[in-house]
Amino acid sequence: MNLRQNEQQRTLHAPAKLNLFLEILGRRDDGYHELETLMMPVRIFDSLTLQITPASSNGPGPLVFRLRQQVASNPVPADRTNLVVQALERLRQRTGCELGAKVELVKRIPSGAGLGGGSSDAATALSLANAVWGIHWPPHQLAKLAAELGSDVPFFLKHGALLGHGAAVCRGRGEQVEPLATARPLHFVIVMPPIALSTAAVYGALEAISSREIDKRIRSSHLQVGHLASALGRGSINNLGRWMGNRLQTAAKALSPWIGRVQTAFSQFDFISHQLTGSGSAYFGVCRHAHHARRLAAVLRNRQMGLVYVTRSCR
Ligand code: C5P
Repeated sequence: MNLRQNEQQRTLHAPAKLNLFLEILGRRDDGYHELETLMMPVRIFDSLTLQITPASSNGPGPLVFRLRQQVASNPVPADRTNLVVQALERLRQRTGCELGAKVELVKRIPSGAGLGGGSSDAATALSLANAVWGIHWPPHQLAKLAAELGSDVPFFLKHGALLGHGAAVCRGRGEQVEPLATARPLHFVIVMPPIALSTAAVYGALEAISSREIDKRIRSSHLQVGHLASALGRGSINNLGRWMGNRLQTAAKALSPWIGRVQTAFSQFDFISHQLTGSGSAYFGVCRHAHHARRLAAVLRNRQMGLVYVTRSCR
């Protein structure tokens, strides 16, 4: 493969996400849940560097993975079970590429938080390797592989560092991504309590739903997402709370007392709205502007409920 010197190593930033809306629309035969969600990337980033190394004489070159954990949260696997290594190995298997890589992941997004860190890292790894290894798969082909790695991975692939970060409505099990225009950045405070939640455990704690209830949810979910999308498109944020919501919040609350505790604390302040992101355990509030976010974050830090972030949506 003929690679120029400047293509031999590249670093990309992998953003976190928040779910401004998440509705469960039934359980599927494959064990996953059908959902409709509105996700927005935010400016908390992991960084991924990939340096190309040659193929071995008898097959694919080694994938050397190094993890630098820069956040005090649930440990992330530093071995081949990390989604970054799985993404790279699968991409090589599918394409027959035999180049190796030295990969360094700097983790700043807490895991077990519902912030999508692992999915974002995997999507970023696919984007990076696709370019650096000179594979140049088209986006739809990468998206199929991304969906095999995790339900949220296609969102980060489409809206990741290579193509510009943007909000999207995601459907199916999360892998059907419809981009969304937003008129202005949103400002957030995020609290990561001192416990992580497993996505599978939170989905597992959902109550069964009747088909009548599903029909009802489908109608109101489409309506809510429509209102939310048009409010974001107009940049009119004061009433966002009327349309926000996260169906996983009740299940997450049943699994950890921290969720209720953080919710109660957020209720005492003048956030535009607040809720759990994804399957938690991180909880966020929408603020009117950057100063509002910094002010509320300072008060929440005094409550000592875990890590407190002030951030805004990407572009
Ligand atoms: O796709 P991902 O690996 O992120 O999903 C983790 C777990 O979350 C799945 O094993 C499943 O238990 C649950 N899940 C689900 N329905 C979805 C997404 C995730 O039940 N749409």
